[in-house]
This record gives sequence, structure tokens and C-alpha cells, in this order.
Amino acid sequence: MDETVKKYIEELKQLGIDFKVLEHPQLISVEKVQEYLGFGMSDAGATLLMKADDNFVAIIKRGDTKLDSEKVKKNLGVKNLRMANETEFAEITGVPSGAATVYLKNIPTYLDEKVLEKEYINAGSGSLLVTLRFKSEDFKKIPGIKIVDLTKIETGKISGKKTIIGKKRILSGITPSGDGTLHIGNYLGAVKQFIDFAKTHDCFLMVADLHALTTVQDKATLQKNTENLILNELALLGDLSNITFFRQSDVPMHAELTWIFNNVTPLGLLKRAHAYKDKLQKDVMEEEINLGLFNYPILMASDILLYKPDFVPVGRDQKQHIEIARDIAERFNKTFKSKIFPLPEAHIPEEVAVVMGTDGNRKMSKSLGNIIGIFDDSAVIKKQVMSTYTDPTRIHADDPGHIEGNMVFTYLDFFGDKGKVAEYKEKYKQGKVPDVEVKNYLFETLLKYFAPARQLYRELKSNPVKVKKILKEGAEKAREVAGSTMTEVRNATGLTNSYSFFEY
Ligand code: ADP
Ligand code: TRP
Repeated sequence: MDETVKKYIEELKQLGIDFKVLEHPQLISVEKVQEYLGFGMSDAGATLLMKADDNFVAIIKRGDTKLDSEKVKKNLGVKNLRMANETEFAEITGVPSGAATVYLKNIPTYLDEKVLEKEYINAGSGSLLVTLRFKSEDFKKIPGIKIVDLTKIETGKISGKKTIIGKKRILSGITPSGDGTLHIGNYLGAVKQFIDFAKTHDCFLMVADLHALTTVQDKATLQKNTENLILNELALLGDLSNITFFRQSDVPMHAELTWIFNNVTPLGLLKRAHAYKDKLQKDVMEEEINLGLFNYPILMASDILLYKPDFVPVGRDQKQHIEIARDIAERFNKTFKSKIFPLPEAHIPEEVAVVMGTDGNRKMSKSLGNIIGIFDDSAVIKKQVMSTYTDPTRIHADDPGHIEGNMVFTYLDFFGDKGKVAEYKEKYKQGKVPDVEVKNYLFETLLKYFAPARQLYRELKSNPVKVKKILKEGAEKAREVAGSTMTEVRNATGLTNSYSFFEY
């Protein structure tokens, strides 16, 4: 523990202020520290050093509240108010910003009354490696402290949502460019991995409607697709306790960071992107391609990097986009001499990397009409299963059949009961079971497998209030995390409100 902290602890003890010492890795933002320690922003106390008329004052407020400058001016009886600049802060406190202590000797201190609503509050120690946990009543022992009403609760801050210490974060997104109905390829290639991760990880999942705008440019269609995708995803996910589910356009920081990233991304990097090259091959004139489509990988880099995930589960078709995001993160860090962005890793499990369609030779995709749906009427699903490609060399039910490349068995390997599937495979190879029986088994298996999701889908569809609440809460949490990254980005790039000779 460094000397500053030791000295501060001594001073607190002399004042009879009690606390617990919590150590952690070096984390700059209060939010990250709280998250690491397993607390929300409402459990954090921040000391703001301000210049009120001619004097410096310290204000202690809760992390989820915002200063109401009118209230401050009125309650302190001052006309002018501004934050201390970095030099003043450093001179007066002697500690790095982000580590301000609640007790600043010889500085008049005001305690926002909302702090006392919490029994315990975590606050700075003078070091970025140590946080002190106080009984908030003890703050009253700070000499001359005044308790006042200075803040309003900041909307968009999740108060007290706990995250488990050391939990890894993952992030992914699905674009509502199609009609929003998910098929078993999407489920196995994207959603299922996410559900598995959500058991042990802190997950962010977005409906990437800004991405959809690159190709869907009709209001009613975009709305329908997005709404449908939201229902499909929520129904499949079920338990959201570890998942922040949100709509991309509810978080303006995605578009904001995209602009900043535009400035560190070379044209060549984007010209090599598959999505753009595919478009060119489709005989679209380069001059005609909209810039949103061209820029798509930068928006995706922003989606990812705002949340600093440990990894990004995606289908193989998205691998290049993650590589571009890594490249952009590196370029940003290098250009602005920062360490803001950890390089994201794709997570692509091999066995489900690409699920082939019911035609047996192309990737399962809505646009190719080779899908098996999840929420369609059972009659539709039955038809899709019955037309699935099996073994073209097998003419009669008693001909020995092949398993390899037989899509019915490929799907059964994912969804069926292992023992039963092995049995069917054996019989099939010996010509002892007709195609239609195996297909019926696949159909029943799928309906059983997705029964809870199909039920939840119906429930959500008849309860829009519930869906709205999920989206609102998700957007608030996402904005909180994204906002904190943007503060770092603003500081690193010079887009701050603190210049060398003035601030606002
Ligand atoms: P589609 O190809 O049906 O239009 P999308 O491109 O919207 O589907 O993909 C949504 C998500 O599902 C992406 O993460 C994508 O990688 C994954 N995905 C789509 N089709 C498949 C597939 N056949 N196999 C594996 N994953 C897939
Ligand atoms: N582009 C992805 C797709 O088409 C969807 C997506 C948008 C995404 N933003 C993301 C995936 C961020 C992972 C991370 O499938």
C-alpha cells in the first residue's frame, strides 16, 4: 500500500471514521472498480472538487447521481460554479483523478443527502489500487461537513445492479436485415452459444438496427423486422439475469464512436471487407454503394469496443469483421497513445460454424429458402423437415443409407437424444428404417426442444409492456457502460471539456 493511502488512513482513524480496505487491479473509472468489486454505481461515492465563487469546495455525491448546479448554487449561496481543472485538482488533492478521497483537509465539504440513503459507500483512497468502504453515517465526522441536497438521480444509471467479481464479458449482435425470424442455423450458430455463455458470463446482446439500415430503407419493414427479431431472440434466450439485451439505436454512443473510428481507419482496410467486395461482385457500381454499407465494419467495431468484451461469439461469416475491429482498436490505441481498447477475440466453435441448409449444399439462410424455422406453425416446420435432403442414392426404404452429408442426421446430432440417434443411424445404414420415420423423429425432437421458447414467444407477443421494460432496462445499462468508454475516448482524443486555460 503506498504512502499516500497509509497517511490518509491514519487521518481517518484519528477522526474516528471506520472503513474496510478493498484492493483491486488498477482501474481508472469508478464504474469499472465498482463492477470489479461487485457493486453498482449507487454504492459509489465520488468527491468533486469545485470552485464556488472564489473558494474551492468538495462535494461528495453518489455515483448514480448528477449535480444539479442550480441546487448547488442556491444551497451554497454562490453565483459562479465550475469544476476544478486538472492542475488545480492535482495541486489540492495530490492524488490521481479517479482516486479522490472523501476527506480533503482544509477544504469545506458538502455531503449530498442521497449518500446517506445508503448504509455503506465505497470511495477513493488516493490510490487507483485501493478503494475504501465506509459506513456512510461516518461521513458526518468529517470536520465542518454540511449535509445538503445537491443532486438529482441520473437517469440511465443502473443503481446497484450487481455483477459477479471477475466475470468475463461477452458481446454479440444480430442484424434485423431479414424479416427477423430466426431459424435453427441462427440458433446453433449464434443464439445457443450465447445462452451457454450467459450461464457464467456478463453478456451484452444487441439488435443491430443501425446495421440493418444499410440495406433496409423502408420504415414499416425495418420496424417489423426489428420487432420480430426482438421477440424471436427474447423467446430463445429465456432467462435474462446475466444478459443485457438492447437495441443498438437506443445507445447513441455507437454512432458517435463510429465517427471517431472513421478517422483512424484506412480506406484499404474497408475495401478488403467481404461484404463490400461481395456487393461489387454483384455488378453493383462502386460509385453506387452506400457509405453505410462500406462503413459497416467500423460500426461493428464500435459496437464491440464500447463494451470491451473478453470475446465475441459469432458465426464464421463474421470473423473478418472481428479482425477489422481488432485492427481499428490497435490503430486507435496507437494513434492516441492510449490503452483504452483491449483487442477483441472472436469465438467461433468449429462444429457449428456453418449449419448447412435443408438442401444439403448451401449455408442455411432465409434468403435461400433452405431453412427450418423455430416459431413457425408446426405444419410449416413439418414441411421443412420433410423436404430435408437425406441420401439421394437411397431409392427404397430398405436400401442401405448414408449418414455423411445427410442433413436429417446432421440436425439430429445437434438436437436428438444421443442413444436414440445412434440407434437410428445404425438402422439407417442397414436399410432398416425409412426416411420418413427418421424425419418424423426429427420433427418431434425439434418441437420438443423448442417448446419452452415457443411458449415464451406467445407470452411475449401478448405482453408488449413486458418487452418494452426489458428494452428500456437493457438500453440504460448499455448506455452506462458505453458512456463510460466514451468519456475515456473523449479524454484520449482531446474532445474533452477541460482545456489548458478554460473549461465548461
Ligand atoms: P441469415 O443468413 O439467415 O440471413 P443472418 O445473416 O441474419 O442470417 O445471421 C444471424 C446470425 O446467425 C449471425 O451471427 C450468423 O453468423 C448466424 N448464422 C446465420 N446463418 C447461419 C448458419 N447457417 N449457420 C451458422 N450460423 C448462422
Ligand atoms: N454484423 C453482424 C451480423 O450480420 C451483427 C452484429 C452487429 C454484430 N454488431 C455486432 C455481431 C457486434 C457481433 C458483435 O451477423
